[in-house]
Amino acid sequence: MCVFVCLCIYLQIFIGNSDTDTVVQHKLPHSIRTRYMRLLPLEGSPKGGMGLRLEVYGCTYKSDVADFDGRSALLYRFNQKSTSTVKDVISLRFRSHQAEGVLVHGEGQRGDFLTLELQRGRLILHLNLGERKRRSTGRSSVMLGSLLDDHHWHSVQIERFNKHVNFTVDGHTQHFRSPGQEDTLEIDYELSFGGIPLPGKPGTFLHENFHGCIENLNYNGVNVIDMAKRRKPQIYTVVSMNLYNSTVCNILHVDYTFKTI
Ligand SMILES: *[C@@H]1O[C@H](CO)[C@@H](O)[C@H](O)[C@H]1NC(C)=O
Ligand SMILES: *[C@@H]1O[C@H](CO)[C@@H](O)[C@H](O)[C@H]1NC(C)=O
Repeated sequence: MCVFVCLCIYLQIFIGNSDTDTVVQHKLPHSIRTRYMRLLPLEGSPKGGMGLRLEVYGCTYKSDVADFDGRSALLYRFNQKSTSTVKDVISLRFRSHQAEGVLVHGEGQRGDFLTLELQRGRLILHLNLGERKRRSTGRSSVMLGSLLDDHHWHSVQIERFNKHVNFTVDGHTQHFRSPGQEDTLEIDYELSFGGIPLPGKPGTFLHENFHGCIENLNYNGVNVIDMAKRRKPQIYTVVSMNLYNSTVCNILHVDYTFKTI
């Protein structure tokens, strides 16, 4: 039995058993979250009398969600005045119906900055490592995705090592080299999520705030929303927001017998 399974962006052919009762297992190389799964049987036993029994096993999925109403932001405050990193990994999922909004922002006095924002339904990552003249050659912006303000979940990952950056949106990766003289990213005081609060002016923000949900926000191994839920002192919320959990575990069984011709 040979079955073709289509998981939207993910296509794979699975070879099944050729006798009556051997169980064949296939493990997917990546985790997938999907609403629909499409099975296309390609061929069956030449003896006829095709049947298929399929069990799809999911795994526990822990979800920490923060709801941003367009006036809120989460600030992750560093223990030291400033943090300097050679390597960064930021990942999150978001859903929004607004085409503009800041998801992540951090900056330092040296001139470094990292901003991830939605602009006209596309994601833009601005990154600069130690280049002072911001608006000359130093600014690096990479754009990915489109129509991301469709109220569906989208996943984002930013991986940086020195000047090398992999920026991934919904499985599509763009690799680029950031400008600047330095290999480190220096950010002062805090990293903000959902908006860029103006220092000394409570309730005032630079740029448009994010409006929607952010799930599983991870900054260099720190689960920011989980920390906010536990009211850790490193996390500061600008305007209170809803924080919630959900744990999903799915096991799906499909039994199917094909019509014999
Ligand atoms: C980017 O992705 C490539 C290919 O998967 C990998 O070899 C490289 O180490 C990644 N770079 C970073 C900075 O994560
Ligand atoms: C969320 O999960 C934590 C454990 O991770 C649990 O203590 C808490 O009660 C959960 N909250 C809700 C609203 O389910």
